[in-house]
Amino acid sequence: MGLDFMARIRVVFTGILAGAVMSLGSGGAYAAFEGGDAAAGEAKSALCAGCHGGDGNSPAADFPRLAGQYEGYIVKQVRDFQSGLRANNDIMAGMAATVASVEDAKDIAAYFASKKMAKDPLAPVNADLAKKGEKLFNDGNMQTGVYGCVHCHGERGKGKAANITQFPRIGGQHRDYITKQLNDFRAGNRKNDPGGMMADIAKKLSDDEVKAVAEYLSAQLP
Ligand code: HEC
Ligand code: HEC
Repeated sequence: MGLDFMARIRVVFTGILAGAVMSLGSGGAYAAFEGGDAAAGEAKSALCAGCHGGDGNSPAADFPRLAGQYEGYIVKQVRDFQSGLRANNDIMAGMAATVASVEDAKDIAAYFASKKMAKDPLAPVNADLAKKGEKLFNDGNMQTGVYGCVHCHGERGKGKAANITQFPRIGGQHRDYITKQLNDFRAGNRKNDPGGMMADIAKKLSDDEVKAVAEYLSAQLP
């Protein structure tokens, strides 16, 4: 890995910055960082609550927690499902199609982003497995060229900073959902990651590593 990989990350970061500057320069709204209205979003999120939970703490492992997720990331996913860029779940694609405007997507996202993640994992955590996952998360795997997840997803998977919403918060997410996403990236079923940066990493992970890191992350509750 080394230089090649870091160079690509730099390209993506530069692109993100350039996009932000362009949206300022064009005199339009500062699109990437203009927040939605959480109060309006609560009413608009009634349908979503059926699967993701009224406060974004979904009660089932197939449905990701949205509570405390970055607003910008949620909006991106809804729009990616709408456009077909994210095509790894037909049910969710149908749900995204009901979100009528970008404003609605932002309001709903602002609502879920404002909620606190619940403190309990859905499934009991295997501490030994989680320990292995923690090592991979922080140090990566030099042998296979896996860069530590912490560099993009932040300490304990809690994200990097409020204005860096491209890298989702994954600490405390349901184990089975995380496993599915990593497998989808590996298999090429999920392809909406900028520059293919997440797929590049997922493809280098073994089944055991996927299991371990998902176990670790599911235990990183608030
Ligand atoms: C019938 C159940 C169902 C409903 C209702 C539903 N979703 Fe989902 N949603 C899912 C499933 C399942 C996934 C995971 C898809 C996958 O496997 O990748 C998902 C994933 C998502 C994600 C991606 C989260 C991430 O971490 O990447 C977002 C964002 C999302 N849903 C938003 C919404 C919004 C907004 C609504 C309401 C308009 C909604 N969902 C309604 C089932 C549902
Ligand atoms: C170079 C930066 C980078 C590194 C390193 C990285 N990721 Fe990611 N990851 C991303 C980005 C960007 C996305 C969001 C893609 C998108 O926009 O849909 C993502 C998405 C994910 C998701 C899906 C989250 C969701 O809510 O659907 C999971 C799970 C994940 N990463 C796990 C990992 C794990 C585990 C590692 C370490 C083995 C890792 N990532 C390393 C950049 C990175």
